[in-house]
Amino acid sequence: MSPEAWLVERLERYGQGHLLRWWNELDAGGKAGLAAEVAAIDFAQLERLIAELVHGETVAAPPAHQVGPIEVVRLPQTDGERVALRRAAAVGGDAIAAGEVGVILVAGGSGTRLGFEGPKGTFPIGPVSSASLFQIHAEKVVALSRRFGRTIPLYIMTSPENHEATVAFFEANDRFGLDHLRLFVQGQMPAVDRASGKVLLASKDHVALSPDGHGGTLAALAAPGPGSTPSCLDEMRQRGVRTLFYFQVDNPLVRVADPTFLGLHREADAEMSFKVVERLAPEERLGVIVTVDGRPQVIEYSDLPPELAGRRHPDGRLELWAGSIAVHILERSFIERLVTEHRLPFHRAIKKVAYVDDAGQTVKPEEPNAVKFEQFIFDALPMAARSTVVETDRAGEFEPLKNAVGPDSPATVHQRMSDQFGSWLEQAGATVPRRPDGSVPFGIEISPLFALDPAELKSKIEPGLVVERPIYLH
Ligand code: UD1
Repeated sequence: MSPEAWLVERLERYGQGHLLRWWNELDAGGKAGLAAEVAAIDFAQLERLIAELVHGETVAAPPAHQVGPIEVVRLPQTDGERVALRRAAAVGGDAIAAGEVGVILVAGGSGTRLGFEGPKGTFPIGPVSSASLFQIHAEKVVALSRRFGRTIPLYIMTSPENHEATVAFFEANDRFGLDHLRLFVQGQMPAVDRASGKVLLASKDHVALSPDGHGGTLAALAAPGPGSTPSCLDEMRQRGVRTLFYFQVDNPLVRVADPTFLGLHREADAEMSFKVVERLAPEERLGVIVTVDGRPQVIEYSDLPPELAGRRHPDGRLELWAGSIAVHILERSFIERLVTEHRLPFHRAIKKVAYVDDAGQTVKPEEPNAVKFEQFIFDALPMAARSTVVETDRAGEFEPLKNAVGPDSPATVHQRMSDQFGSWLEQAGATVPRRPDGSVPFGIEISPLFALDPAELKSKIEPGLVVERPIYLH
């Protein structure tokens, strides 16, 4: 049987007819699957992206003289500033108690750098308990819901690659006690050959598809749910959820739905807010929040020219210091506007993608051979009518798991978690041993269900507690 005429016509029009090269070898299921994949691709959009991001010039960074630092709510230095933050925390707490806050966790990435089979969120990261990233995040949502007496719905974005495994993991763990959990799947984009712009086949009956970046969150939130269920956005509207706390799966220190951050966002009547830390070095792999011609914008580390990344004040401090830890707040109404009125730009990622060659053999390339197209959520920032950028302390809130060894690896995350919990215990009156460099010498861990912060911990431990060996409070 020859391929259906519409399929041939559609592919030939865009110079992608090679996708049907193996059609006659496929069984009925293979043909139907491939036809469905092709039907789902927006080839007109893809053609523009190939012209722009594969064959075109690489996108130039904005001229250096137009780029300046962003205004940031800095860490408090004075009593007045501390009082203002406590006021903000009350505003944020009220929003949670009113049921107006939801949480979005993006976990659709493939986590290739970590080299871990399975969804990154299932990685056992607790330094003593080996609790998974998902467990730690979920328990924070449960604990905060209990504190404010109101359900905080959790929305987790997966990708087609890891959705089933993520669902199975939460089911096997009784959803970690969450009242309302919804897993939604992000979209995919085809990968193309870096030299020719031809879409790659992953196998004779499958296009090489990969997740469309965390910017895909927006479209995925707006997409109808399975069966006749409403989209996540519609469901949020029905529940009265107005404000969404957004974070990435890789950082176990994140203060999920941090009331202070929520309060600062609300007090500024912001549509989108960012948490930042001070960048340690020009080459640190953090998106940088800047202004371009006075408008807030994020420039990803890979797009930041060295002369801008390293520009310093006379006293030596980095001028563009605000490094994004990918913790945001978005108003639901802003997301609704974004999905109807705007489109986030696509970025290109040059990657190794296995493909079927002209001889029908699967090739696993040694060098990056393909371009993937991804959208980034932080590109929504310039479209927000108002935004806030809030500094947080790195030791307290940022130690992402990205690599198998070296920086941002299980070893560094374990140490940083133990150091943080050690410091909580000290603040709560306990004695904790320290190495000469200030780090704690063994694993210390506190479940979010035991205490979410040092103040809560103080009410739960014996006065004068001396910690002498690994400890997991739960
Ligand atoms: C990211 C940010 C960077 C920020 C840093 C902080 C980007 C492009 N860069 O870098 O600005 O300073 O984190 O740690 O995001 N994800 C999806 N679907 C996708 C792709 C990613 O859900 O299609 C999720 C991942 O599961 C992960 C997060 O997004 O939770 C980050 O993705 P990753 O590609 O690891 O970004 P980084 O390069 O680490």
